[in-house]
This record gives sequence, structure tokens and C-alpha cells, in this order.
Amino acid sequence: MNFEIKNKDVMGRTGIIKTPHGIIKTPALMPVIHPGKQTLDVKKFGAEVVITNAYIMYKNEDLRAKVLEEGVHELIDFPGPIVTDSGSFQLSEYGDVEVTNKEIIEFQELIGTDIGTSLDIPTPPYVKRDRAEKELEITIERAKEAIEVRGDLMLNSVVQGSTFADLRSTCAETIGAMDFECYPIGAVVPLMESYKYSDLVDVVMASVKNLPDSKPRHLMGAGHPMVFALAVAMGCDLFDSAAYILYAQDNRFMMPTGTYKLQNLVEMPCSCRVCTSYTPDDLRSMDKEERMLLIAEHNLTVSFAEIRTIKQAINDGNLMELVELRCHAHPYLLDGLRNLKNYTAELEKYDPATKKSAFFYSGPESLGRPEIKRHLEKISRIPKKKNLLVLPRGRKPYSKHIKEDLGKLYIKNVNGNAIIDPEDLMNDCQVCFADVPFALIPMEIDEVYPLAQNESPMNMDTDAKDFVRIQLEAYISQFDNAVISAKVLDRFDMYTITLEPLPDGSEHTEKIYSLDEFEGDIGRIFVDDKTKIKSIADYQFGEGAGSALFKNDVKIVKSRKTGKIRHVYEGETLIATLRASDSVFVLDREGARRLHSHVEYPKNRVVVNSDAEPFAREGKSIFAKFVIDCDINIRSNEEVLIVNEEDELIAFGKSILCGHEIIDFNTGQAVKTRKGGI
Ligand code: GUN
Ligand code: ZN
Repeated sequence: MNFEIKNKDVMGRTGIIKTPHGIIKTPALMPVIHPGKQTLDVKKFGAEVVITNAYIMYKNEDLRAKVLEEGVHELIDFPGPIVTDSGSFQLSEYGDVEVTNKEIIEFQELIGTDIGTSLDIPTPPYVKRDRAEKELEITIERAKEAIEVRGDLMLNSVVQGSTFADLRSTCAETIGAMDFECYPIGAVVPLMESYKYSDLVDVVMASVKNLPDSKPRHLMGAGHPMVFALAVAMGCDLFDSAAYILYAQDNRFMMPTGTYKLQNLVEMPCSCRVCTSYTPDDLRSMDKEERMLLIAEHNLTVSFAEIRTIKQAINDGNLMELVELRCHAHPYLLDGLRNLKNYTAELEKYDPATKKSAFFYSGPESLGRPEIKRHLEKISRIPKKKNLLVLPRGRKPYSKHIKEDLGKLYIKNVNGNAIIDPEDLMNDCQVCFADVPFALIPMEIDEVYPLAQNESPMNMDTDAKDFVRIQLEAYISQFDNAVISAKVLDRFDMYTITLEPLPDGSEHTEKIYSLDEFEGDIGRIFVDDKTKIKSIADYQFGEGAGSALFKNDVKIVKSRKTGKIRHVYEGETLIATLRASDSVFVLDREGARRLHSHVEYPKNRVVVNSDAEPFAREGKSIFAKFVIDCDINIRSNEEVLIVNEEDELIAFGKSILCGHEIIDFNTGQAVKTRKGGI
């Protein structure tokens, strides 16, 4: 079996798992099939993979004889990949099972399951630490035993540890180092049933960040479409649903926004076959079994639809917008989302550097998105100036609309007594725009993703206001003189904080210029093209990259249609192209050579072995299995240098995976090579 990533967003990924009975496209929902009494044919609703219970078959004499003879695929009439659980769930429900770990693993191999499961102990949330530790020890022992007795069987090994983050992490690390095919996260059903989504986020993040990136992760017992998007954003690839049938038995309709009881319905909740063929009254008057099957059909249909919606969001790069939307359906889901803010640093490592979609701000929770943290860290790559001028937001790109949007430019000096003359101010000045959510947008890079590719409402919430103000204040303190336009002071409530009397008791002085007064200097607010390309390169590749790539004799070619910078040459040699969609540089051979000379090993590099070298030189893409080292700080969708073991530049391209994944994966593409022939 192997797993490959195709597309990514946040920690979510779309991918494929290859099994002996076919391919599973992830994220995937595995409907739970009862091996003895299944009445709904899940194939009809798009199930590519199902999960069933080996222990039920093992315990029931008839089923056992039958499945041993004909195999599990025949028994449950499903030709595709089948995952089996081991009886651990029964163990957690009834306190005991009549089978050993070894027996159930061997049984799963005999019945021809695609992925089996060892007999982990599902320790419930909130137990005493002592119990969680003892049970975890057994779970890990059984994982070790599973490796020894498994034969050719592919196996799940389940992360346990109750609600102790450190135990979850230790467990994930320990079993992650053994060679299992898939890593479920177990014993989370009670958290989901009691809507403890904030704790669920802690448990999943503690597990996922210590599991190998190259193996799929299954959130066990997660079957409500309401939670899929959040779980995928944290790196979960597989879900299983018995909920579609359990909810149906209870006359409940699942929707990605919550649950509806049949008794309360006056209208059907969606536009699936069931909801467009029957009225709530029709269903209420039916016999129980018929009604149950129809509601189960609805439940499965919307669950699969939600999985498709998530895959599309990953492809488009707007998974967090979907997560924020879904998590606003219930205050406790919102709690989960708010807790996710504590994991921004982890999410940022996996989040692609550029995306197809714009960043849409949907409320204070959006302030925790990785793009913002990353931007605020990258700002320091742009060389420091003496003075700072902060201007308000206008139309984007801001620098193109300064004159028309500013109206009167009132300026106050906020850093000490001296009034700065416009002339002095502009001598060595960083011009910066203040806006939600990226707080500080240096003028030189205001067209670069995501600084121009974002939308936020004009009517701010207080969190956003506070966030921008705090960022502004920290930034201001790095300059000798900071001059903030009155509009900015107003918008972000900065008067009270910045205009208190100075330590020596004197008042701040202020002078208000009109735009007319500033007219003579406003031309100097615009950035020249050379400064702009250097700053973009610094922001993209690190401090000093701009000067290394672009010397003084560059030739800048602009688009005739849009007037935007397109290509940067030196003489006849193309160095780099500024991509129109996101104003990010795509290197050419000379650009790659210059960057390679400028940045030290292993920065920006992916090192391939000698087998792959000739292919890379021909411009063929780099598969993860040929990579022997890389810069761990590489993000997906970044320009990277492809080198051999002697650090000779042999090609360059765009990373598909991030640094951690490039190292961990042995399957699939790591880098899409742009050009070899260096
Ligand atoms: N199904 C739901 N939760 C669990 C769990 O923790 N372990 C196993 N094996 N199956 C489950
Ligand atoms: Zn429906």
C-alpha cells in the first residue's frame, strides 16, 4: 500500500491510497457495514471504501464460517477496499472481548481484509492519568506484537492516550516509528458526542503533529459531516460513519450545518433524491424500516457531498473559509475553531505558500490563519529604513490609489517631539498601509500574495482592530520616526495609546498637513520598479536575495496590457518572471544560479540522489523517494533549487510538498521541476 499527496491546504491534503482492492481517494468517508444485517447498499451512494467489524464476524459462528470460506469482500458484497476494526470498540462498550490481539490480527488476514486493526484499548476522555498510562502501555505492546504476527496484512495502529496531550504525542511518536500503513486516532467518539470540540482539537493536534506525514490518518468514529472540514484541516484523511444509520434509526437528518429531527421538519432539509421525493409527512406516515432506509440514504448523500466540498476547497485553497463557515454552525464547534488558533505555528508549516483563492476574512477567528503569522514574520526580511509612514487602506493595490483614496492626508508624529518635515520624512522612509487582516503592508510588496488577494469588511470587529493596533505599535517602535496618518489613528483607536504625554511630561507635538501641502512630496511615496522587485525578492526568498538576484543593470519588461512588471532581464538573459496572478517571482536559470550562490546550504534546496540526477537535469519532476535531504523550511508551492549531493545546482522548480513531507514521503511527487539544463 502507498499514500500520495495530490493537493494541500492548511494541514489538509487530498491524496490517493493504493490498496489490493483499488484506490481510495482521500479525504474519504468509510460507511460502516454491519457484516450480519446490512440492508443499505452503500456502493450506490459513492462509497469507495467501507469499514466493517472483524470481531462481530469472529464471534458469530455462522458469519465466521462463511467469511473464512468466501472472504470478507464476498460476505459483505463490496468489491473495493475494506478496512476492518478489531473489537476494540466492543471492548470499550462492554469492558471485555473474547479474543486476543494475535487471534484477531490473524483472523483479519485470513478473511482478506485490506487494512486490519490491532486490539488497542480505547481509553475514554477525562480518566485519571494513571489509567490512561497503564492502558496506553498495553496498546503500545499490542502494536509491537501486531508487527510481529501480521504476515502480509496491512495494519492500522490506533493513537490512544485519553485527553492527555503528552500521552497522545508519545503514543503517536512511538507507533509512528513502527511501520504501520495507517494511523487512526481513537477514543474520540465521547468527545464528539458531548460536543467537546475544543478538546477534540487538542487531542487531534497532539496526535497528528507526531505522526508521520506520509501515512493516512483516520479519525475513528467521526461520522457527522459537521466536523469533517475541521478534522481535514488538522490533517485527518479518513472518516467512518455508523452515524448515517444510527441517526436514521432515530429519525434524525444530518446536515453539514447540524442535525434536524423529523418530528420538527416542515420542509425537507436538502435537495437529495429523498428530500425531493418525499415530504416530512410522507416519511412520518411510513413504516419504520422504510423510513429509516430513506433517512440513511439522505445522511450518506450529504456526508459524501461534504467530502466533495472539502476536496474542492483544498484544490481551491480556501479550506479555512469552509472550516470557519462550518464551525459557526454551533458554539462548541466555534470553540474548537478558536482553540485551533493555538496551533497556528504547526498549521503554518504545512500551509502552502501561495494559493489560488483570495483570503476572505470571516471574523476574528480568521486572525489565527497561518497566512497572517507567516506574513508578519516575513516583513522583517525587507531592509530597515529610518522613518515610517503609515497610510490607511484604500482600493487595492493600495499603492496605485493613494491619491484618489487618501483625500486629505493628516499626519501626526507619534514618536517623540520633533515634527518631521515631509522632506526629511521621505528621505529614508518605509511607507506602509494598515489594514485587516495583514496589519502592515509595506508599499513595495502590496501586490504580492496574499496582501492584495484578500478581502475584509470595512466595518471592523474589535479583535481585528486590536490585532492591527498591536502589530502597528510593535512595528512603529522599530523606527526612529513614525508618522501615522490621522485616518489610521482613527480607524485603529490609536489616539489614547500613542498620544499620552511623553515621559518628560511634555505633550506630543503634531502638525497636520493637507494633501495639497504634501503634494510636492507625494510623488516620492511611489516606489520605483527596481526597489519593488528587490523587495519582493527579499520577502519571497529572504533578506539580501533581491540584491543577489537583481544587480543595477536589470531590464524590467512590463505587460503592455496591464502595465505590470512581468520579466526581469540582465542584457538578454532572463532572470525571473513576476507571476501575474500573485506577483510572486518564478525563477529562470540565471535567477536560480544567483539564488544558489547567495543562500547557504541547505536553504531553499532539495537534494536528490545520483539516480535521479540525470532526470532532474532533463527537467523531469522529482519524486520524493529520490530526495535525500532538503530545507525543512520549504513550504508547498515555493520556488526551490534542486541540487545533487555535492550541492551543485542541477535544476529548479516548484515544491509540491513542504519540507517535512519531502523528507518523510517515499511516494509521489515532491517537486515539479521547471527547468533542468543548468
Ligand atoms: N472505533 C471508535 N473508536 C475506536 C477506537 O478507539 N479504537 C478502535 N479500534 N475502534 C474504534
Ligand atoms: Zn436530503
